[in-house]
Amino acid sequence: MAIPAFFRVQRLPETASTNDDAKRAADAREAEGLVIQALRQTAGKGRQGRAWDSPEGNLYMSVLLRPRCPPQEAGLYTFVTSLAVYDAVREYLPDADIALKWPNDVLVNGKKICGILLEAAPVKNGLVEWLVIGIGINVAHFPDNPLYPATSLAQEGANTELSETLEALLEGLYGWRKILRTEGFASIRKAWLERAKKGPIEARLPNETIKGEFKGLDEHGRLILNLLDGSEKAIAAGDVFFQA
Ligand code: BTN
Repeated sequence: MAIPAFFRVQRLPETASTNDDAKRAADAREAEGLVIQALRQTAGKGRQGRAWDSPEGNLYMSVLLRPRCPPQEAGLYTFVTSLAVYDAVREYLPDADIALKWPNDVLVNGKKICGILLEAAPVKNGLVEWLVIGIGINVAHFPDNPLYPATSLAQEGANTELSETLEALLEGLYGWRKILRTEGFASIRKAWLERAKKGPIEARLPNETIKGEFKGLDEHGRLILNLLDGSEKAIAAGDVFFQA
C-alpha cells in the first residue's frame, strides 16, 4: 500500500480546522493534490454549522482538488469520498456490516464512523475554482451523540494506525476519483447504491419533515424517496434518519 504520487501530504500536530487550512492554500494558488492532516483540531467543523469534536487519535484531513466542473458536479465528490471511506473501513473490518447513508455517512453496525465536509470556491466562468474535501474518521474515539450514534475503528475491533488509515483512504480516493472522471457519475452511483442502506426514511428538511421509502439516487446525486401517497420526491439537502 502506498500513497498515490498525485497527493502531497502536510502533517500538522494541531490546527483549528484542516478544511480552513486547505481553503487558504487554495486561495494562495496551491496546486491540487495537497492533503493537510492534523493530529488535533481546535475548531473542527461539521455539516450545517455543527462543530466536529477532534481529540488526538482520530484522522482529520482535507484534500484540495481543482475539478474544473460546474458546482452541481462538485457535489458528486461526496459519493466518491464515501466510497473511498467505505473501502478503507472494509480493509480493517472485513466482516463488519458497513453501509453508506445519504448524503455522506458511512455506518458500521448502524453507527456513524466518519464525517465528510465538502467546501467549494465561488464559481468563475461557471466552474468551481477549487474543492476542499474534509474527512474525519473515528479511529480511536467517537462522540457520545444520541441523535447520531457513533463508533470508531478501535471500538469495532480494527487494528490500525492513523498513517495506514490515511494511506488506505487516499488510495481509494484516487481510484474512485478516476472512475468519476473516466466513466462518469453513473458508475459511482451504481457502486454507491450497491453499498447503500435502504428502507423507510424520515427526511428532516429546512421547512418540513417527509416520510418515505428509499428508492435511489438521481443523476445529480439527489435522494429519491417513494412517498406514502405513491408519488416520488427528490431531496437535494437535509438530514435523513432510518425508521426502526
Ligand atoms: C459531518 O458533520 O459529518 C462532517 C464532519 C467533517 C469533519 C472533518 S475533520 C477534517 C475536516 N476539517 C474540518 O474542520 N472538518 C472536516
